[in-house]
Amino acid sequence: MKRGVACGVLAVAVVSIVAGVFVVRRIAVRDAENARGEMYRGYGIFADGSRLFVPLPPMLAHNGARAALGRQLFNDRRLACSQRLVCGACHWLGAGGTDSKTHHGILTRPAYNAVFATCYLHDGSMTNLRDVVRMMVETPQFCGGGSLAVVEAKIAPDASLVRRFQSAYESEGGFNGTNVVDSVVEYMKTLITSGTPYDFWCAGHENSIGLEQRRGSEVFLAARCIECHDGPALGGRRVSGGRKVPSLRGLSLRKSYFAKGVEGDLDVVVRRMPGGELTPEDGKAVKAFLQVL
Ligand code: HEC
Ligand code: HEC
Repeated sequence: MKRGVACGVLAVAVVSIVAGVFVVRRIAVRDAENARGEMYRGYGIFADGSRLFVPLPPMLAHNGARAALGRQLFNDRRLACSQRLVCGACHWLGAGGTDSKTHHGILTRPAYNAVFATCYLHDGSMTNLRDVVRMMVETPQFCGGGSLAVVEAKIAPDASLVRRFQSAYESEGGFNGTNVVDSVVEYMKTLITSGTPYDFWCAGHENSIGLEQRRGSEVFLAARCIECHDGPALGGRRVSGGRKVPSLRGLSLRKSYFAKGVEGDLDVVVRRMPGGELTPEDGKAVKAFLQVL
């Protein structure tokens, strides 16, 4: 009996010591991190409570029936002049939403997170996602489906698809070309890459990215990358030097970069950025950070 009590006391003591050491170490790591970035307190929260790093929402409000239609049409050759030119043929959803190839000299931009952008295309010349999708459907270098009237005529004989449009858009015109485009836009509201280690980190789960990546996040702020690559998608909201600032989300899935798709080497890409002349250690840390977005 006595022995049992002694064992219990011993076990409690051991557990307390281990927990104590763990807490003290955590505090030391935290202090070291705080000392490094004057006002920066980890996971993107500043001393004044403001945030520059913000997670993507897991979901946006959307109409499920319409998005389901758009999802089907994303890979439907009736939107295109040939099977090869469906949206999904260039915007590979399994590879970050892009084929990482150029078409007529311009790199395919990811279909993911497009809904968070405020400007579109390599030069940021369009500002409305609906207009972009319509342009993708109609223009020869993309789907090349021709005018919306042509697309409408191709889908019209499909009674079951038309019926689904009639019910999803009951009070808004039923089946027509405009609603075909709308359904694809509705689908694009579901193409969000939330839940990356970076998102968890932004939300306050400090250890979801490693120390090297956290250091990279500090370099990202210090080198002022965030001034152009900002918002939940880390880009997509401004034009600089005649080029759209692209989102950096899902970067590790893509194989070439820049509007013309000329660079496949991330070191070179970072060096070419304003503020990108970094020490080798800082360059490595930023690259590590870019891998977890
Ligand atoms: C032949 C390949 C191809 C097809 C097919 C295609 N796209 Fe694209 N898409 C591109 C390229 C290339 C760009 C970049 C154009 C630019 O930057 O000027 C792009 C850009 C976009 C953008 C803007 C992204 C951004 O961040 O600026 C959206 C949205 C988009 N496509 C959606 C679609 C949809 C929806 C379809 C089907 C209706 C489609 N695309 C079909 C190649 C294609
Ligand atoms: C003054 C604005 C600005 C700043 C500051 C800036 N960038 Fe960029 N970044 C851009 C623009 C514009 C592009 C697209 C260039 C193009 O398409 O030719 C780009 C492209 C990139 C790309 C390639 C992404 C892709 O998919 O093509 C990466 C990676 C990148 N930037 C990282 C960084 C890093 C890291 C920093 C900080 C060291 C940084 N940027 C600072 C404007 C900026």
